[in-house]
Amino acid sequence: MAKNLKTTEFGAFQTPLNLAEQITQLVFKQYPYIKSLVEPTCGIGNFIRASLKLNDNVKSIYGWEINHEYIKSAKSISCNKCIDISIEQKDFFSVDWSLLPEHLKESVLFIGNPPWVTNSELGRIGSKNLPHKTNFQNYGGFEAITGKSNFDISEWMLIKIAEYISGKKAALSFLVKTSVARKIFLHICKHRLLIKNINIYNIDAKKHFDVSVDACLLCSEGCFKPPKEYISSIYDSLSDKSPTKIMGYTNGKLIADINTYNLLKDVDSQSEIPWRSGIKHDCSKVMEFNLKDGKLFNGFQEQIDIPGDYLYPMYKSSHVANDKLKKPVKYMLVTQKKIGIETDSIKILSPKTWTYLQSHKEKLDSRKSSIYKNAPKFSIFGVGDYSFHPWKIVISGLYKNIKFKLIGPFQKKPIVLDDTCYMMSFKSKKKAEFVYRLLSSKIAGEFIDSIVFKDSKRPITVALLNRINLKHLAKHLGLIEKYNLLFENNKHKQLNLF
Ligand SMILES: C[S@@+](CC[C@H](N)C(=O)[O-])C[C@H]1O[C@@H](n2cnc3c(N)ncnc32)[C@H](O)[C@@H]1O
Repeated sequence: MAKNLKTTEFGAFQTPLNLAEQITQLVFKQYPYIKSLVEPTCGIGNFIRASLKLNDNVKSIYGWEINHEYIKSAKSISCNKCIDISIEQKDFFSVDWSLLPEHLKESVLFIGNPPWVTNSELGRIGSKNLPHKTNFQNYGGFEAITGKSNFDISEWMLIKIAEYISGKKAALSFLVKTSVARKIFLHICKHRLLIKNINIYNIDAKKHFDVSVDACLLCSEGCFKPPKEYISSIYDSLSDKSPTKIMGYTNGKLIADINTYNLLKDVDSQSEIPWRSGIKHDCSKVMEFNLKDGKLFNGFQEQIDIPGDYLYPMYKSSHVANDKLKKPVKYMLVTQKKIGIETDSIKILSPKTWTYLQSHKEKLDSRKSSIYKNAPKFSIFGVGDYSFHPWKIVISGLYKNIKFKLIGPFQKKPIVLDDTCYMMSFKSKKKAEFVYRLLSSKIAGEFIDSIVFKDSKRPITVALLNRINLKHLAKHLGLIEKYNLLFENNKHKQLNLF
């Protein structure tokens, strides 16, 4: 389907009939008690068509749709069985859920494919296809629902439906982005909704909708008492009979693979050595240099002539994510040793560096981030003693391959990282090598895989890395004595002295 304004505004990718049939077949098997069906954003009504073909138990069908063109097509659905079909032009956001007819309180299935669009995309095109303010207030503020200001409108719609079926003999089954399905699952868990049998079936969105996004069918049904634990079975496709993974929930967090996680959950606490981002300067053309034939060039291809005093070999994400770590070919101008310290002394200590910085003053002064306001001239961030420790374990924050690298000094200088990388730094090579051994073990990989959603945009975050407890990892690997020798001995010595 051509992507025009209307498509964006209403997220109007219609579900192909054959996919709708495959889904309804699966769903009716799971929920044989269904007597009524609601397709709340029914478009041209393919889920209704598919249901009529496949199910004889359904006695009433409701289709709601905002677009009058689609309604025309949906209204043309005919049926020679004894079924009440009601297709209405309706805005989902204006539905008063307390006024739904009595027979939609029991044995009802909500099914379909809500719009695939975010509120900020709608904001950009000036669309009002959003929840009304009064609805937000009923929920205690929109932030309370989603915890952030950018959201998929399908997320809002599905939360409404999940809350409606909670505690009822009713079910839901919707095609959504995988990221949305996870948010709905999180909402169900956090609010302890009376919902069970949560299943996620991955679908090939490229094949069915010609869009490159991870998508799935999310299914679940209401129940009468809270489930013992909230889990969701993840199937690779609609036809798979057994799940590939079980997603879980613990301490407010989603867990990608709860079975593996449960075996290693003691590792999930706090890293003893903090993970940090690399250096942030927001001006790579001025602050980073490429080494070519022994000469340094900045991002404007100007050859620069400054002494090494403030220059450090550097890696960025693409270097770190590379299978084979090569020698650094880039340098970074590091103007401060700690956040916020004065930079005027560069003028005296390294006049050429100062002159270079002055010559690009405009670029540096116009850096947008508010952190640079009222900071010393030519400031950088994400810098501290740790940036200058010789040994580092590093990982890219941009790439999905979860591989740690151990790096040491280069030409007698510590290698620094840009802010697309994460690092843990060490003065001692022995400690760095030991921690690297722990982190690159199979068990560490299994633990990380169990908590990471690889299909998310940036699966690796500093918060996630900081959850890996090294001592517990060492215990699993039978290396606790070595761990104690390297990290706990000093503590004991100090205690004895005391
Ligand atoms: C992804 S399409 C799916 C259509 C249909 N459910 C299907 O599966 O073929 C989403 C549909 O939601 C409709 N829609 C968008 N915003 C809506 C709203 N606020 N209320 C009701 N329908 C809406 C669009 O017009 C579009 O037909």
